[in-house]
Amino acid sequence: MIKDKKVIRDILEQSEKFFHTKEDDEQIETTFEVVEKLQKIHPSSIVCRYDGNDLIGHVSILPTSKDLMNKFINKEINEKKLFELTIPQERYEAIYLLAAVVEPKYQKNGIATEMLLEAIKGVPLLKNPVLFYWPFTKSGEKLAQKVASILKMTLEGRKNIFE
Ligand SMILES: CC(C)(COP(=O)(O)OP(=O)(O)OC[C@H]1O[C@@H](n2cnc3c(N)ncnc32)[C@H](O)[C@@H]1OP(=O)(O)O)[C@@H](O)C(=O)NCCC(=O)NCCS
Repeated sequence: MIKDKKVIRDILEQSEKFFHTKEDDEQIETTFEVVEKLQKIHPSSIVCRYDGNDLIGHVSILPTSKDLMNKFINKEINEKKLFELTIPQERYEAIYLLAAVVEPKYQKNGIATEMLLEAIKGVPLLKNPVLFYWPFTKSGEKLAQKVASILKMTLEGRKNIFE
């Protein structure tokens, strides 16, 4: 669980730099309140790495239900609604890969994979949990595929995102 306000601010800034959530009604916004709810859903929902004082990357996941996952994948609800409707539970059926960012000079060294494995392994899961994602980029898709294959989890994605 990340409590340090400076660390949370660094993560929010890094996330906004890559995802521009403030200009997008569909995406979950990068705010302190969102970080608080994510960590209430599960304390390991956000994982980050520093090199000295520099934040080199972070990942966040949203443990949720298969029902909400299906609605999101079928585009009945957007990412914001998925987040709003998710409530803290003892065990989860599905994990949404909410965000993964690694600064360019540190990429392709396995850092995002390592952070995501740490985040997901912290979460108590029900049988046959599903990993799902909404890829913005090819690298994000590759990352999701790699993590799902390591954890032997079924992977689902929102369709047609690159088209
Ligand atoms: C996605 C991102 C976080 C991956 O970080 P990373 O630390 O480089 O990822 P890893 O080194 O753990 O690589 C994971 C897998 O993805 C592959 N991959 C990473 N970047 C890639 C790229 N640009 N093109 C193709 N494959 C890529 C890796 O090769 C690896 O697979 P492999 O082991 O089978 O070769 C990073 O590229 C990034 O910050 N991108 C911009 C933000 C973004 O698009 N986030 C994803 C959407 S939430």
